[in-house]
Amino acid sequence: MGLWSPESWRSRQAYQMPEYPDQARLQDVELELAKQPPLVFAGEARQLKSRLASVAAGQGFLLQGGDCAESFSEFSATNIRDMFKVLMQMAVALTFGAGVPVVKVGRMAGQFAKPRSNPLENRDGIELPIYRGDIINATGFTSEERIPDPQRMLKAYHQSSSTLNLLRAFAQGGLASLDQVHAWNLDFVASSPQSERYQQLAERIDEALAFMRACGMTTANTPALAETDFYTSHEALLLPYEQALTRKDSLTGDWYDCSSHMLWIGDRTRQPDAAHVEFLRGVKNPLGLKAGPTLPPEELIRLLDTLNPDNEPGRITVIVRMGAGKVEEGLPPLIREVEKEGRNVVWSCDPMHGNTISTANGYKTREVSSILKEVKHFFEVHQAEGTYAGGVHFEMTGRNVTECIGGAHGLTAESLSSRYHTNCDPRLNADQALELAFLISETLKACRKTQQA
Ligand code: PEP
Ligand code: CO
Repeated sequence: MGLWSPESWRSRQAYQMPEYPDQARLQDVELELAKQPPLVFAGEARQLKSRLASVAAGQGFLLQGGDCAESFSEFSATNIRDMFKVLMQMAVALTFGAGVPVVKVGRMAGQFAKPRSNPLENRDGIELPIYRGDIINATGFTSEERIPDPQRMLKAYHQSSSTLNLLRAFAQGGLASLDQVHAWNLDFVASSPQSERYQQLAERIDEALAFMRACGMTTANTPALAETDFYTSHEALLLPYEQALTRKDSLTGDWYDCSSHMLWIGDRTRQPDAAHVEFLRGVKNPLGLKAGPTLPPEELIRLLDTLNPDNEPGRITVIVRMGAGKVEEGLPPLIREVEKEGRNVVWSCDPMHGNTISTANGYKTREVSSILKEVKHFFEVHQAEGTYAGGVHFEMTGRNVTECIGGAHGLTAESLSSRYHTNCDPRLNADQALELAFLISETLKACRKTQQA
């Protein structure tokens, strides 16, 4: 495997990387970034890893969610707040269902670079380089806007820094207060067409909170009810950016990619000998590894050998994204191999990326029913295998967009055009995301019952 260094990835094949025409400018930006303060502290990444180790042991549940791609134009305090709110609301419902702490990880404050199936985009016979995320190029369909511009990395860094600053303030400053979050959930239930179905869960949380108050636990005297830990994550795709933010921790001497607490490897860049795996094997952050239907079980083990040679729990979260129709068949062989080899992993379900479809009117969308189906199958497979379904991974937004079809409000393919804002993949809107959390909460509760029986 050879010696690792923050730049050892450079001698490997790097997939999905932009070609910067101005190499001198690229180097200037890398040097500039390397001088910036880290966005996260290594100690926080270690703390997240230990939380994830609890999840691996069945004593926690991972909720990871956020934008498909953050953008420069949608950057605002309101959007960050709304995303944070919905994630907190989902977390309360899931905590109640799972009966264990929910580890909250945003696809936020750095989720800018996108892998693409095609390097080029063709519109009416004109061919241009594909849009790869705001950290690389722009969405506009002109050759100028599609040129990869290194300067964008600096903008993404500063936007991530402001986003993280606000997230930390929300997490510790009162916006995560359990009473407050529960009150929002009651509003959601009251206005949902599925109100009756969710009512029961909301009422039981109400009772639990009243009981705690009666015992003298309030947000004023119990910090755990008033604040939360919130972590960030993104796909470690744009390696020059990730390398520039990689620092040696002064406490342990270990390397951390300080652009985010958790980084994941995408389904398109997980080739065992290539650049992304090489880079990530050397940083000590907790890692996600996307597992699509084309990942053979032996290759998963090979990746675990490389990325987690000491088999440390919490280091690797396998994010399974097979598609609703494939997970029943595709997941058991992966689980069996991991069990046979005695590997510690968190199993998480990304029910988004295997369920993208195109509508007749040309929109990329996902059906809420397929998303729910994939989650259900994921839980069923784990129950059958006797393993622990440890988390979920969503592309979502706190805004009222129309990008995914279905849900209690019955969003149709025809209505997609009214508020279709994503630069990349279709996201669940706030109502759809909450509905899923309520439904998953029911599933989690049912799983717990059968485990206890
Ligand atoms: C993503 O999570 O945005 C993504 C591109 O996922 P995948 O690598 O699983 O396709
Ligand atoms: Co996506």
